[in-house]
Amino acid sequence: LSRGAAAPDLAGRHVLVSAGGTREYLDPVRFLGNRSSGLQGYALARAAAARGAEVTLVAANVALPDPAGVKVVRVETTAQLRDAVLAAAPAADAVVMAAAPADFRPTDVSDAKIKKSDDGSAPAITLEQNPDILKEISQHRLRDGQVIVGFAAETGDATGSVLELAAAKLARKGCDLLVVNDVSGGAVFGSPDNEAVILSTSGVRADVPRGSKASVAHAIWDQVAANLRG
Ligand code: CTP
Ligand code: CA
Repeated sequence: LSRGAAAPDLAGRHVLVSAGGTREYLDPVRFLGNRSSGLQGYALARAAAARGAEVTLVAANVALPDPAGVKVVRVETTAQLRDAVLAAAPAADAVVMAAAPADFRPTDVSDAKIKKSDDGSAPAITLEQNPDILKEISQHRLRDGQVIVGFAAETGDATGSVLELAAAKLARKGCDLLVVNDVSGGAVFGSPDNEAVILSTSGVRADVPRGSKASVAHAIWDQVAANLRG
């Protein structure tokens, strides 16, 4: 199906997309971060706008221009991402959490730049866990009938395969759909292409073939649109 002129199946809908990776500061110049480029989240925002939706995009440290016709809210930390998502979620028919929030933040943030000492020693960093935004909005459902989509980048480990870990994550988070990326090879980060499996709480599984992040975005909105209708 060509999306040259996308069907306006999201017209009249308001959607919220988060993108990028959050940063947790150690001092004014240093942070803990992750490899998320924001490309998939931006592709989701553009695709939703092309399908007629009113789009709010919460962008964490993304080095990309604002997509046309999309309201962009820029954030840095997981706490700021949470505030922005909670502020926009009550108006959203669908929320897609494509962002990669840092799971941990330094317990103490230094106001001044941390200096090294001459004795070759290094400071120890103590971390605490950040709030889980997806779990929170899935549990509290800030709007009736809202469809909530999570992402999971998995490698599989001794406790389970990529799909087994993803199914457990879908149940744990309480969202409606989970977009699963196999990142065993480290290939998705910053790549123009992606491939995914979309798991649904109803047990339906949709395989999205390797393609552009735009094509993966449209496959995700196809599933969201079906859930909004159903
Ligand atoms: N997520 C979130 N808030 C967090 C962490 C993750 O909303 N503090 C969301 C992500 O945006 C994503 C989904 O939860 O949509 C899954 O993220 P992931 O990092 O895979 O889940 P975690 O629960 O952090 O599990 P893991 O230990 O595997 O990192
Ligand atoms: Ca995580």
